Amino acid sequence: MKAIPYGKQSVTEDDIQAVIDVLKSDFWTQGPKIKEFEDAFAKYVGSKYAVAVSNGTAALHLSAMALSLSPGDKVITTPITFAASANCVRYCGADVAFADIDPKTYLLDIAKVEELLKASPKGTYKGIIPVDFAGRAVNLQAFKKLAAEYGCWLIEDACHAPGAHFIDNNGVHQNSGNGTFADLAIFSFHPVKHIATGEGGMITTNDEKIYNKLLMLRTHGITRNSALFLNDPDFASGVASDFYPAWYMEMQSLGFNYRITDFQSALGSSQLKRADSGLIRRRRIASRYNDFFSDKTYIKSHSGLVEGHAYHLYVIETQDRLELYNYLREKGIFAQVHYIPCHLMPYYRELGWKEGDFPFAEQYYKHCLSLPMYPTLSENEQEFVITAIGDFYNTL
Ligand SMILES: Cc1ncc(COP(=O)(O)O)c(C=O)c1O
Repeated sequence: MKAIPYGKQSVTEDDIQAVIDVLKSDFWTQGPKIKEFEDAFAKYVGSKYAVAVSNGTAALHLSAMALSLSPGDKVITTPITFAASANCVRYCGADVAFADIDPKTYLLDIAKVEELLKASPKGTYKGIIPVDFAGRAVNLQAFKKLAAEYGCWLIEDACHAPGAHFIDNNGVHQNSGNGTFADLAIFSFHPVKHIATGEGGMITTNDEKIYNKLLMLRTHGITRNSALFLNDPDFASGVASDFYPAWYMEMQSLGFNYRITDFQSALGSSQLKRADSGLIRRRRIASRYNDFFSDKTYIKSHSGLVEGHAYHLYVIETQDRLELYNYLREKGIFAQVHYIPCHLMPYYRELGWKEGDFPFAEQYYKHCLSLPMYPTLSENEQEFVITAIGDFYNTL
């Protein structure tokens, strides 16, 4: 049996052809494939606008910048996430405030966030970054209500959750990243994610002003839109003129080169066509794991599929995590741990966070393990994983 990772990309002949077509075309970057990918992605999640960028971390950084996050500001997020969800706050010179997770969902606990907000004068916290951890959509309607009460913005970190949804108070499916409640949502196209472009990311929003800001920030703070120019046409042309010449562009704010390439975008568009079938496959794999674990007392997993879950990860909790992890590795099954609590990374410890700050997150970390979960995981491979786990517990 070949090595079985916890997650991996899939590629088809159509994906490869899409990339080759761009390589043979005139534009490797700043060409038409980027907007095509953005439009297709916005349609998929149901947002008005989408801005493709070089990776999910860049998406977070630009989102925080677009919301004018500044030194001295404070933003709340979860400790059970990839470090980038918190790091984007630090990039802007602002401070991260963590709040504990709900041990039943593993998501940022809204009650804990409310406690934090209540404990300080209004205006102390500028924003909240909930994470659709493992592919489970956060109830953003509830977060929006709380955020509005305290004058906070919301960035949804939906890296794990393209295609996920939660059900709002009116029984309506609200897709992750659709912009109904959050100011911005961000996605990653790293190879383990649902849609892969090597490196890549996307920001979605329904706010036109934010959208225009993001377009500029992604490319050095430069605009080519003459309606926005600040210098006058005489200067731009070098002679007295009523018009701006075609070469003219302006750098109006300090941005970055966070652009994605056209060949990555073509790959993304091609992958997006399989997003729904990939999701069905992920849910089927989750369902088989659920069936197996349902009567096993030694493993804590969700019983039954979670509504709207996109199953980027299938997480179990077990007292024998280290032994099980090593046993599976010996058999070529590379389970993984998501995540080491962010507040206990040496960088964040240095900023004052310590063990005991978030008991549920820390307890979860001691026992969690992500099992193989990706659309091309075959039934035989999953059976091999399940049998290995069963064998491990028989040897105890
Ligand atoms: C929850 C979360 N946020 C942000 C990121 C950052 O995305 P990227 O690796 O594309 O920079 C990741 C990627 O692993 C992630 O899982």
